[in-house]
Amino acid sequence: MRSNLMIGRRALLTALMASPIAVRAAWADPLPGIIVTKDPDCGCCGAWVEHVRSAGFHVEVIESPELNRVKARLGVPQSLASCHTAEVGGYVIEGHVPADSVKRLLAEKPDARGLAVPGMPTGSPGMEVEGVEPEIFDVVLFGPSGQRTFARYKGNKPV
Ligand code: CU
Ligand code: CU
Repeated sequence: MRSNLMIGRRALLTALMASPIAVRAAWADPLPGIIVTKDPDCGCCGAWVEHVRSAGFHVEVIESPELNRVKARLGVPQSLASCHTAEVGGYVIEGHVPADSVKRLLAEKPDARGLAVPGMPTGSPGMEVEGVEPEIFDVVLFGPSGQRTFARYKGNKPV
């Protein structure tokens, strides 16, 4: 038992000396994985998946034509519905929510079901249209105790 512990400590020391950056990365709070359920034919959903992936999330995609059933199961109000529905860290993410808002949600951990960007605002992450002015849109925090504006963006920039 004792010798195992010592080997473990020596291995850790070796790792520290070999690659301090890798060790620091392993100690930092890692982003939880995101599970995204999307219709197989949804193009903007795929673009949003790339957006959260490039923000550092590990993304697992489930293709399903039964999105309404998934939204109902996860408690997304119909008035907030969008295209894809995602799950991360015990929260629900509905639609084209910017990755920065997802990270803030995970850091602040509010008592809520999740975040939604209802509809599909032009210019939101995954909904960029070249040459078209991005819309101003709200990220809505929703849950049993109601809804409130969590963030406001124009395109991918907070306003
Ligand atoms: Cu979409
Ligand atoms: Cu989508």
